[in-house]
Amino acid sequence: MAQQKATNITWHEGHVDRNARCDLLKQQGATIWFTGLSGCGKSTVAFTVEHALVERGHLAYCLDGDNIRHGLNKNLGFSPEDRTENIRRIGEVAKLFADTGVLTFTSFISPYRADRDLVRKIHDDAGLKFLEVFVKAPIEECEKRDPKGLYKKARAGEIKEFTGISAPYEEPLKAELVLENYGREPQESAQIVIDLLKKHGLIRD
Ligand code: ADX
Repeated sequence: MAQQKATNITWHEGHVDRNARCDLLKQQGATIWFTGLSGCGKSTVAFTVEHALVERGHLAYCLDGDNIRHGLNKNLGFSPEDRTENIRRIGEVAKLFADTGVLTFTSFISPYRADRDLVRKIHDDAGLKFLEVFVKAPIEECEKRDPKGLYKKARAGEIKEFTGISAPYEEPLKAELVLENYGREPQESAQIVIDLLKKHGLIRD
């Protein structure tokens, strides 16, 4: 758990409540948290859903692990501590996005159950909906796809602490959706996520 370092700080309540923003956007914000191995297709599916929702008139945004590590989290690596901080920060960012009314997708390996559970709790405490989507593909399949050539490097010992090879991945135990993402086109997987959002009353028919 991150330490509270700042002292003498006071929460300042705004004048606009969440419902007013929901009315404005005609939707309710939420976080849809994609987790899974590198190469399992998290980002492809998340960006496909984001696109489909915007086309249907919903405000959606995808926070992607590789992208966020180019900016906000550029000072973090892949040690267990850095991954935990990566997820904590993005959990907080997702909460803020969801609070503004955005349908927020996150695509991070997020390999540790405790980190994901903390992000869920942050949302629960704030009264915001949080849906965990386990994008599941066998590691052999991810390694065969190897879209960035990273499994090859990890096998050659050129990348240390690589998830699934030399670092752990803890599968979710209570994900709202286990998305078997192999032998399936991204559009088909995206539709399954869209159906989940409908089931939870987050998008219009
Ligand atoms: S997380 O574990 O902290 O959640 P995150 O999703 O932000 O990871 O970043 C994972 C991406 O970083 C992978 O898709 C891959 O492109 C790249 N990457 C580089 N080094 C590693 C590593 N050691 N383990 C996993 N992914 C890595």
